Amino acid sequence: MVKAVVLGAAGGIGQPLSLLLKLNDAITELALYDIVNSPGVAADLSHINTPAKVTGYLPPNDGLKNALTNAHLIVIPAGVPRKPGMSRDDLFKINAGIVRDLATGIANYSPDAYVLVISNPVNSTVPIIAEVLKKHGVFNAKKVFGVTTLDIVRASTFTSSVSRADPREVRVPVVGGHSGVTIIPLLSQISPPHTFNQEEIESLTKRIQFGGDEVVKAKDGAGSATLSMAQAGARFATSILNATVKGESGIVEPSYVCLDADGVGGKQVRIAVNGLSYFSSNIELGKNGIEKIHPLGDLSEYENKLLEAAIPELRTNINKGVSFITDES
Ligand code: NAD
Ligand code: LMR
Repeated sequence: MVKAVVLGAAGGIGQPLSLLLKLNDAITELALYDIVNSPGVAADLSHINTPAKVTGYLPPNDGLKNALTNAHLIVIPAGVPRKPGMSRDDLFKINAGIVRDLATGIANYSPDAYVLVISNPVNSTVPIIAEVLKKHGVFNAKKVFGVTTLDIVRASTFTSSVSRADPREVRVPVVGGHSGVTIIPLLSQISPPHTFNQEEIESLTKRIQFGGDEVVKAKDGAGSATLSMAQAGARFATSILNATVKGESGIVEPSYVCLDADGVGGKQVRIAVNGLSYFSSNIELGKNGIEKIHPLGDLSEYENKLLEAAIPELRTNINKGVSFITDES
């Protein structure tokens, strides 16, 4: 039995993400939780002829508890999205509290589940979840992931428009965090190999770093990326299921994780990033979650400068998330 839970399932990301998870044969139960409309979304999806039994929950009558109990994997796209002119950090005021309360539910009702965080600002919401789980004594650094897959998806799409490669085949490691200058595409490590000139490197890097803004601007007040994010979130959730349920090995996906997990390589990355406790790097997944946090590899001079520029902002974002929980009485 494999239960997947979506928290924020009635939203712009939540609905198409739930649809894609309903199509995943590894899932036997799909629980949809939101503060509005989740029973309606669940009723709709439940008519699709795939194995997953779909249930919808609202907050009354222990809705969060019932949604989370026996969860294997939880995806969190709950929270408000940006409007033009806002930074992801501007969302902290509202989303930090939402994520904290959902994390408290996870600590109480499904402390062993894999937790995939989409809600922005990811650089801070992942530390918030980790601190809540630590407070309850149930934090496992191998099981909490900030979903940065959309940056990877964008990097494949944008680079292939220049290199003319098949975007489905292209892999670019994108490390760091998930906002503006903290997003660090490692174009020197693109696979299949391709050499871009410096002008291409700089414009592709900017486009990948600010891809989210393109969508926010085009939607003109109606929100941020939802459909591409749903695909990216489902891709990452599928990778987790393939590793933890099907036992597949060798699955590597970048993700923003806590570098404290014992014996999986986080310490080496931590040294390379001036002691940051959270960072996105290539993560090898195994049957218990993070199997190995890969080192950043060789960086070009330009990529080293991107890393230097990202570290102070990431440190501020991480500290803000951590102290949101540790400063609570
Ligand atoms: P949305 O407003 O369309 O949907 C959010 C949903 O969350 C709504 O249905 C809302 O009712 C629900 N919600 C609010 N409070 C809740 C609570 N306490 N419990 C459960 N559900 C709650 O927004 P969206 O476009 O789906 O975006 C959601 C979040 O994802 C935003 O914070 C956005 O910035 C973020 N996002 C992240 C990435 C990424 O790459 N990680 C990409 C796109 C969007
Ligand atoms: C994205 O990268 O599309 C998301 O983080 C949403 C946003 O605010 O840009």
